[in-house]
Amino acid sequence: MKITEAKWIEDFKEGKINGETVEVSYKTYEQAKSFYAKEDTSLPDNTLMYTVYTCHTRNDHTQNLNWGLTVMEPVCVAQECNVTRGHFHEDEQCDEIYVCQKGEGLLLLMDEKGQCRAEKMREGSIHHIDGAFAHRLVNTSDSKLEVMCCWPINAGHDYKRVENMPFSVRVFKEDGKITIKENN
Ligand SMILES: [Fe+2]
Repeated sequence: MKITEAKWIEDFKEGKINGETVEVSYKTYEQAKSFYAKEDTSLPDNTLMYTVYTCHTRNDHTQNLNWGLTVMEPVCVAQECNVTRGHFHEDEQCDEIYVCQKGEGLLLLMDEKGQCRAEKMREGSIHHIDGAFAHRLVNTSDSKLEVMCCWPINAGHDYKRVENMPFSVRVFKEDGKITIKENN
């Protein structure tokens, strides 16, 4: 019997996934400005907002699953907590699982009418995302928020739909206190 190393290995201490075929993408403040209510001129454009590690599986049948890790930096933009871009799935039949491995935050979920709710994320929390809901991560803490994700390869990311109907709430940190505000 042949025994091999795993294709991907997560370094839990460093909060990163290593492996030949892992795709790593970085989101800088310059790329993320439109996610926030206001621009923050004190933040350099090259500030790292979050990193996404994606382990793609073979695209040979629709039941295949991808695995990923999102690492969100503890950065605020004009007092607004760091958020991911957020998306609906192109195929609403495809659900997703998030597992928080480090940090604290919120998983923001929005239905097709723009109604939002959130689940608290903390180390070990497991979140089932219904494929019909848009989802976005919010780092509310002063340290990194690390979230493992598993989703079907055919889920697809519909970012346009969220641009046309933005999340209806925003999360701010003012004097160390988290406040939720309607997005208008
Ligand atoms: Fe997703």
